[in-house]
Amino acid sequence: MSLKFKNQLKGKRLLLKRAKPTLGLAEIMFLTIDKNRQHLEPWFPWPKLTQKVEDSLKYLFDDEEKTKKGTIVTYSLFINKEYIGNISLFNIDGKKKSAEIGYWLAASHTRNGYTTEAVGILEKEAFENLGLNRIQIKCDERNLASAGVAEKCSYKKEGLLREDSFSEHFNGFRNTLCFSKLKSEYKKQ
Ligand SMILES: CC(C)(COP(=O)(O)OP(=O)(O)OC[C@H]1O[C@@H](n2cnc3c(N)ncnc32)[C@H](O)[C@@H]1OP(=O)(O)O)[C@@H](O)C(=O)NCCC(=O)NCCS
Repeated sequence: MSLKFKNQLKGKRLLLKRAKPTLGLAEIMFLTIDKNRQHLEPWFPWPKLTQKVEDSLKYLFDDEEKTKKGTIVTYSLFINKEYIGNISLFNIDGKKKSAEIGYWLAASHTRNGYTTEAVGILEKEAFENLGLNRIQIKCDERNLASAGVAEKCSYKKEGLLREDSFSEHFNGFRNTLCFSKLKSEYKKQ
């Protein structure tokens, strides 16, 4: 399995740039997170922990360490040079040839099919070049947008993990939907 992560991946509309730890990226990431707290906080714990640019920079440095170990790669999404969110391939397991995809987008750019496009770009790279066999997408059962992306990208619903995590936002246990796609189900576009 070859884990040579590309610096850029291109789609029809989107440019995915590997999220490297630079002050410039940390600044636009922080501004975007700060503007989108209501949109992000129900689904992730990290927006609350991101209170200044330095927090985003630390995230990028930590991410880079994991990228060097081959367990995660994060790409920043750009549309006409505007930063609109991130997509990651994480929990990369070289032995099982499996990984998970996670994503978020600025609320202002949702419902344009950008995340569907980004998943398509990243899974192509994962199946065709990184040697993965299985990709998983997991989300809160209540997260209709995230589940909608998995379904639109033809990920198969495997089931529901009952109360498998705790949501500070909803102050209760969370049911997690699990979707996956295998290399044998992946169709080259
Ligand atoms: C989840 C998220 C990344 C989706 O991004 P997006 O670019 O708007 O998704 P797409 O436009 O590719 O939508 C694909 C499909 O998902 C479904 N969908 C998307 N948003 C939806 C919503 N708000 N409600 C119901 N279904 C939705 C639709 O079926 C849509 O296809 P359609 O527009 O042709 O009907 C975005 O809503 C987001 O950033 N949410 C907050 C962060 C988050 O929840 N991340 C995932 C955590 S697991």
